[in-house]
Amino acid sequence: MNLDSKVISGKVLSEEILADIAINVESIKSSAKRVPCLAVVLVGEDPASQVYVRNKKNACIKVGVKSLEYILPAATTQDELLTLINELNQDDTVDGILVQLPLPKHFDSKIVIDTISPYKDVDGFHRYNMGALALKEPNICPCTPHGVMYMLDSLGIDYAGKHAVILGTSNIVGRPMALELINRGTTVTICNSKTKNTPDMVRQADIVVAAVGKPNLVKGDWIKDGAIVIDVGINRLDNGKLCGDIDYASAYDKASHITPVPGGVGPMTIAMLLKNTLFAYTARN
Ligand code: GUN
Repeated sequence: MNLDSKVISGKVLSEEILADIAINVESIKSSAKRVPCLAVVLVGEDPASQVYVRNKKNACIKVGVKSLEYILPAATTQDELLTLINELNQDDTVDGILVQLPLPKHFDSKIVIDTISPYKDVDGFHRYNMGALALKEPNICPCTPHGVMYMLDSLGIDYAGKHAVILGTSNIVGRPMALELINRGTTVTICNSKTKNTPDMVRQADIVVAAVGKPNLVKGDWIKDGAIVIDVGINRLDNGKLCGDIDYASAYDKASHITPVPGGVGPMTIAMLLKNTLFAYTARN
């Protein structure tokens, strides 16, 4: 991986954010107050989700945030999960609640997400938090798009007049990403799998955000000279290696700035989760 000035290192930026959070938590601790607490719920045995949950726990430990883990069998009923969420909602010593997605098929994720108190919804997925972002009155913002904004902010760019093209319309990335950029005055196009001539759309973009989960989909000849290229994809190839949705080698030559995979957006998501947990703690106290 090239760690030059073209490369936006999520690893470096996230370390800065986590160091700042650790200082805040340390000062809470030194005033003999309860430290922030994040409850993470994992249902089932999806291997990727197990890795994400472990990484989240390790980040909590690193910054001194208390972490509670609830690892539930895949056969857990929706009622059992909702009961646990309601208990965590009522528990004054819990500041953040995260239910790792995707849930096994027999769950209705919308009901599960909306059962989490919006004040403890550190993923920012609850309709109250999504609605607040849509109204440009952000409360808790979804972690990955918020992490991407932190990366873009680190470049000191002027959003007004820029055209961003987002690939992917998920509730976790594409939609809130569009809202974040719209709120800064960016012109935004969102492409889905039925979009006609996606490469030509991307060729118009000053900022490209790819979040579709298709390995190396976006080629260098889709990228306008000097565009900022953000790769949210994390795909595991048959050879075990990780790659993004952007064909890094060819896009690198065209981009003014580009995020690597791994070490790009991924670590930013976790840093923003901890930031949201501290925010929820501060707001509730
Ligand atoms: N699954 C993939 N990304 C996320 C995330 O940011 N939060 C949760 N809860 N589940 C996810």
